[in-house]
Amino acid sequence: MNDLDQLLENNRHWAEAIKQEDPEFFEKLARQQVPEYLWIGCSDARVPANEIVGLLPGELFVHRNVANVVLQTDLNCLSVIQFAVDVLKVRHILVTGHYGCGGVRASMRDEQLGLIDGWLRSIRDLYHEHYDEIAALPDEESKLNRMCELNVIQQVANVSHTNIVQNAWHRGQPLSIHGCIYGIKDGLWKTLDVTISSPEQLPAQYRLRPRRPL
Ligand code: CO
Repeated sequence: MNDLDQLLENNRHWAEAIKQEDPEFFEKLARQQVPEYLWIGCSDARVPANEIVGLLPGELFVHRNVANVVLQTDLNCLSVIQFAVDVLKVRHILVTGHYGCGGVRASMRDEQLGLIDGWLRSIRDLYHEHYDEIAALPDEESKLNRMCELNVIQQVANVSHTNIVQNAWHRGQPLSIHGCIYGIKDGLWKTLDVTISSPEQLPAQYRLRPRRPL
């Protein structure tokens, strides 16, 4: 049996099941996508975006990387945000972390893992910033899980600090950035109630004025 046979068979079943519900599903989808949501989540195999929030193909635009990091210099992530906001005009960006995140765990330890150490560096800085709060927690699991939450909160801020998001607000486009976290142990996805929907919610240092025409 070929390595891919099982997956190919799974795919045929999946496509068939969807077509039974709606025979024109894929034809309609091929014409256009109008997702209302952009998901920014971890690459972890246990955190499948669409399944968690019960959305079909076409309903969720997705970017995933290790530990759901948003950096102002990451062309990949920024391009996804720009396309989602400027072209697809999504109304919600769902930054979703997860408890027990291996990337966050690695940034709290002194072991070297290779190239990924550089990728996780901003979470290491965040850990240093919140060291006293984390150190006061009773056990390793609660320390890691609190860091997973703090990481989401930081990434929500990072998304809202981009000129992409701020220019959308300047032109009156409704756009909210939400911080959410997923529990691998119970399958539950919850909001951290840190939604940002306007520039007034940002610290003055990060608030950008509309760009003047050249
Ligand atoms: Co993770």
